[in-house]
Amino acid sequence: MGDEPAVNLAELEERARAILTEAVFGFFAGGAEDELTLAANRAAFRDVRLWQRVLVDVRTIDTATTVLGQPVALPVLIAPVALQALVHPEGERAMACGAAEAGTIMVLSTVSSVALEEVFRAAPGPLWFQLYLPVDRGAAAELVARAEAAGARALVLTVDAPVLGRRERDLRTGFRLPSGASQVVPSDGGLSTHGALGSLLNPGLGWNEVAWLRSATRLPVVLKGILHPDDARRSAEAGVDGIVVSNHGGRQLDGAPATVEVLERAVAAVGGAAEVYLDGGVRRGTDVVRALALGARAVWVGRPAVWGLATGGTDGVAGALGLLRAELERSMALCGCRTVSEIGPELLVRSS
Ligand SMILES: Cc1cc2nc3c(=O)[nH]c(=O)nc-3n(C[C@H](O)[C@H](O)[C@H](O)COP(=O)(O)O)c2cc1C
Repeated sequence: MGDEPAVNLAELEERARAILTEAVFGFFAGGAEDELTLAANRAAFRDVRLWQRVLVDVRTIDTATTVLGQPVALPVLIAPVALQALVHPEGERAMACGAAEAGTIMVLSTVSSVALEEVFRAAPGPLWFQLYLPVDRGAAAELVARAEAAGARALVLTVDAPVLGRRERDLRTGFRLPSGASQVVPSDGGLSTHGALGSLLNPGLGWNEVAWLRSATRLPVVLKGILHPDDARRSAEAGVDGIVVSNHGGRQLDGAPATVEVLERAVAAVGGAAEVYLDGGVRRGTDVVRALALGARAVWVGRPAVWGLATGGTDGVAGALGLLRAELERSMALCGCRTVSEIGPELLVRSS
């Protein structure tokens, strides 16, 4: 393996696999049931063809953009991923530092290895906070207030997990949450994914809770886990600021479509009323171009950032994003796009 940096994100994943236990690697890498949706997320990117464009002066390429008005150096955010201390002792703190080093935003999960206040204190850059909304309104209001007080720049309500997808890898490997792993998950340890994480979820979550959250905070609200165009339309009607077209990285409904497959329909349904992001299977700079050409404002990456964290802490996270940024710059040049705003639907090769 050597000390040379990984050539691409697939290689980074292999390096992470080599240093993590099978159970921990499986918890992060795995999806629900037969992992069909997990695989589809990757496969669907391959079906989106891009027109190369030539004889454009591409000496200067600028990957900077904004999300909800907040500047980022590249249109790639770090998705909320639970329990990051499982792969690195500094966990979410190192992830937040890596995001800042790369000039982007990390979305901190409710299921954090350390208290959210500690992560915000350690973070040199902006963070958004992902919510699993507790059933109890008082507890929900308290969590929102904590995130606001800590300095969150947006709240991301995850809506695709009323119940937990069945992660069979965890059952096979006997993956257990370590004791003291989280501020929210009961910290007595030895709990299975299905026992502990399942207890955080709210099968009663509905549009009423979205309306409540909208009115309970002045922060921008983003709904994460939208696939169907009707849900996208309704999100916009509910007055949210953004949606994430996401199938939770293939960890919830196995059989759900790949995100890139349904992105365009969600973008059309929202009709410009909210920003639309995509996550799931983004592993190449060309994937970022594809998603933006299909209408996403930015993409989020989950596992690649974890592999960076596992292999190199803060620098590893920044390195993973750096790989993606270098690929994005090259892909933009080959598509004749000098700025992110020049990436549009005319880059897509339509079959007819
Ligand atoms: C191990 C793991 C834990 C995750 N934890 C959360 C979470 O706590 N909250 C959430 O909204 N999404 C969670 N996700 C989903 C990610 O935010 C994101 O949707 C997904 O990882 C994107 O796909 P990618 O990993 O292929 O980039 C998790 C994903 C993984 C792999």
